[in-house]
Amino acid sequence: MIYSKIAGTGRYLPERILTNAELEKIVETSDEWIRTRTGVERRHVAAEDETTSSLCIEAAKSAMEAADVKSEDIDLIVIGTTTPDLIFPNIATLVQQALDIHGCPAFSIEAACTGFIYALSTVDKFIRAGESQCALVIGAEIITKLVDWNDRSTCVLFGDGAGAVIVKPSAEPGILSTHLGADGKYKELLYYPVGASKDLVAAGTDAVGIIMRGNEVFKVAVKTLGAVAQQALKANNMDKSELDWLIPHQANLRIIQATAKRLKLPLEKVIITVQDHGNTSAASVPMALDVGIRDGRIKRGQLILMEAFGGGFTWGSVLMRY
Ligand code: COA
Repeated sequence: MIYSKIAGTGRYLPERILTNAELEKIVETSDEWIRTRTGVERRHVAAEDETTSSLCIEAAKSAMEAADVKSEDIDLIVIGTTTPDLIFPNIATLVQQALDIHGCPAFSIEAACTGFIYALSTVDKFIRAGESQCALVIGAEIITKLVDWNDRSTCVLFGDGAGAVIVKPSAEPGILSTHLGADGKYKELLYYPVGASKDLVAAGTDAVGIIMRGNEVFKVAVKTLGAVAQQALKANNMDKSELDWLIPHQANLRIIQATAKRLKLPLEKVIITVQDHGNTSAASVPMALDVGIRDGRIKRGQLILMEAFGGGFTWGSVLMRY
């Protein structure tokens, strides 16, 4: 039996840090409101000349170094993102070119905040089928360029970043299962109103931003993230007590706390980065994984459940032995 195994991880966060105190000068809000309602204290914001691919490249280099992998070893690149540099060519080909990799398949997956989980699940299938020996998987986002900085109900939530992993086949587990889901009936609760084939030109200089019914998103997120975790454990005949780490999408500390409570997991077993990163959409789970690995909390052989939830809605999980 072939398993997919994470051989190395990396992350990149833009240099500029935007604090809650600075946001108080931009919109009518307060550090206290943001911290108590969301848990976010600061977030990284990309510079004008940074693009999502430039973040990806740095995160990829760091994952490749951790896995001791060279450009010529990589035979597949999959990137989860909703904020690619260009409409085409796809962002994975831009990263491929920058890393001097030529000829292997390179594509992106758009599933909002679940983008990395969708990408990793897809790569897991390539590896199990024997079609990849060394894959680069990234979740990355410059979501702050989509944000309407006049809308206090959304602009305080988001941040930019990229998280990367190198995945290789292994006789030892490895990814034990992946589960993906989506339900388009929730579109109205969270979306961006402009795209390549809809109103892109008309939008012009008008302020366009993320449309979100926060309260309703919150409720579905908590319910879904709890159910997704149970689904993964049940499929593997495992109990939540066997989990070493939960790495949930970092949207809001209260959502993370409520999910952990549903699973009866102490918060000490949850990797939490939302205070420092904000909601970085597809980048949030791989960056949190990298934080946990690099600070020594996550160790080889431990059982880890990663899960995410985002616009669509989309959702998914990856249960793995690191
Ligand atoms: N600062 C101060 N007040 C704010 C504010 C801000 N940044 N944003 C909203 N408010 C106000 C609202 O205008 C509202 O005022 P009102 O009662 O006078 O109308 C009040 O705070 C409460 O708003 P509400 O939306 O009910 O707050 P909430 O407790 O639901 O928290 C969110 C708002 C957005 C933090 C919360 O709903 C949330 O995190 N939802 C999930 C969002 C999410 O995760 N999205 C991504 C999913 S991948």
